Amino acid sequence: MIDKMFLLLLIVLSFDGSGIGKTVANWGSGSTSGGGGGGGGGGIRGPLHSKHKGSSFTAIFNVKSFGAQANGHMDDTRGYLKATTHLSRYGSSAGWVEFGWVEGLTLTGGGIFDGQGATAWPYNKCTTNSSCNLLPTNAKNFKGSGINIFAPANSPNTDGIHIERSSSVYFSRSLIGTGDDCISIGQGNSQVTVTSISCGPGHGISVGSLGRYPNEGDVRGLVVRDCNMTGTTNGIRIKTWPNSPGQSAATNMTFENIVMNNVTNPIIIDQAYCPFASCTSLAPSRVKLSDINFKNIRGTSSSAVAVTLECSKGIPCQNIYLEDVHLDLMLSGNKQATSSCRNVRVKYIGTQIPPPCVFN
Ligand SMILES: *[C@@H]1O[C@H](CO)[C@@H](O)[C@H](O)[C@H]1NC(C)=O
Ligand SMILES: *[C@@H]1O[C@H](CO)[C@@H](O)[C@H](O)[C@H]1NC(C)=O
Ligand SMILES: *[C@@H]1O[C@H](CO)[C@@H](O)[C@H](O)[C@H]1NC(C)=O
Ligand SMILES: *[C@@H]1O[C@H](CO)[C@@H](O)[C@H](O)[C@H]1NC(C)=O
Repeated sequence: MIDKMFLLLLIVLSFDGSGIGKTVANWGSGSTSGGGGGGGGGGIRGPLHSKHKGSSFTAIFNVKSFGAQANGHMDDTRGYLKATTHLSRYGSSAGWVEFGWVEGLTLTGGGIFDGQGATAWPYNKCTTNSSCNLLPTNAKNFKGSGINIFAPANSPNTDGIHIERSSSVYFSRSLIGTGDDCISIGQGNSQVTVTSISCGPGHGISVGSLGRYPNEGDVRGLVVRDCNMTGTTNGIRIKTWPNSPGQSAATNMTFENIVMNNVTNPIIIDQAYCPFASCTSLAPSRVKLSDINFKNIRGTSSSAVAVTLECSKGIPCQNIYLEDVHLDLMLSGNKQATSSCRNVRVKYIGTQIPPPCVFN
C-alpha cells in the first residue's frame, strides 16, 4: 500500500492538427497504455524522449516494472508509476511524463504518480535564477477532475497545477496541498475555469507571477469558484513583478464562492512582487490588471490585513469589484480585519468586512 506521495508531474497536451486518432489510456487496470493513433503521432512518454513533433510513438508502461506486485497481498489494483531518481535520465528537458501532440486523449481510472520530487528539490533554483529551465507548458481543450496532488508544505516551488500559454482549460474537484501555489495561472492563458478545489497547505490559488520575462502573453477569461482554502499563506493572489521587460494584461477574472479558513492573505493583489529583493528602486510593474471580480469571499484571516490591493503606480488597476466579502480575524479579540489599497479605486457591492479602503 502506498501511503505517501510526492508529486512533481508535468503534463503537456498539445495539438498537431494532422489527422490524429482518438486515444484512450486506462490508468489503473493493471497496465497502462497510451499512444498516438493514426498517422499524426504523439503519445505518452517516459523520461528519455526526443521532441520530434509528428513522430509516430506508442508506449506501454507495465506497472510491474514500477512497483506493482500482483501477489494477492498488495493492493495494486490502482495504477502506480514511480519516477526514477537518476536525474541524468531526464536529459535537458524538464519532463518526466509528458503527454504531447495528441488529440482526444482520455486518461481514466485511479492511481498514483509518485514523482519522487524530494530528489530534485535541492536543485530547484528558479526562484533566484531567472534563466533556469522552465517547465514545458501548452494545452488546449484540457479537462481534468478528481486529481489530488500532494507535496510537503516545506518543499520548494512545488506548484500543484501550473497553467501557462493554454486555452479552454477546465480543472475541478481536486484536493491539493503543496509547498507553493495549489494552482497557479501563468501568462498567456485564456478561458480557464477552476472549480471545487480544496487547497492547503500551500500558497493558495495565484494568478502569476506575471511580468517577469519578455514576450509574455495576456491572461483573459479566468473563473475560479467554489473553492476552500485552509491554512494557506494566500487565498486568491494576483502577483506581478516590477521592472517588467514588456507590457501585458490580465483581465476579465472572477473569483467566486471562496471560503478562507485561517488564511494569511485571503485576498491579495501584489504588483510589487519581489520575493528575493526590495522593490523600492525598481520601475513599477507594466502588467495592466482590469475587470477583476471578487464575489462571496468569506471566512477567516490569520493576519490583520485581510484584503490587500497593491496595484502598479505606473498602470493602476481598473474595474476591481468586491462584492459580499466577509472575512473575520481568526483570533479576533475585539479587533476587525482591515483593508489596504494602493493605486486602485475599488468598486464595492454588498457586505464589506473588513471595511472598504477610504479613498481621498
Ligand atoms: C542560472 O542558470 C543557468 C542555466 O542553468 C546557468 O547557466 C547560470 O550559471 C545560472 N546563474 C546563476 C547566477 O546561478
Ligand atoms: C468546502 O467546505 C464545505 C464545508 O465548509 C464543504 O461543504 C464543501 O464540499 C467544500 N468544498 C470543497 C471543494 O472541498
Ligand atoms: C470573460 O470570461 C468569461 C469566462 O471565460 C467569458 O465567458 C466571457 O465571454 C469573457 N468576457 C469578455 C468580455 O471577454
Ligand atoms: C492559523 O494560522 C496560523 C498562521 O498560519 C497558525 O500559526 C495557527 O496555528 C493556525 N490556527 C489554526 C487554528 O489552525
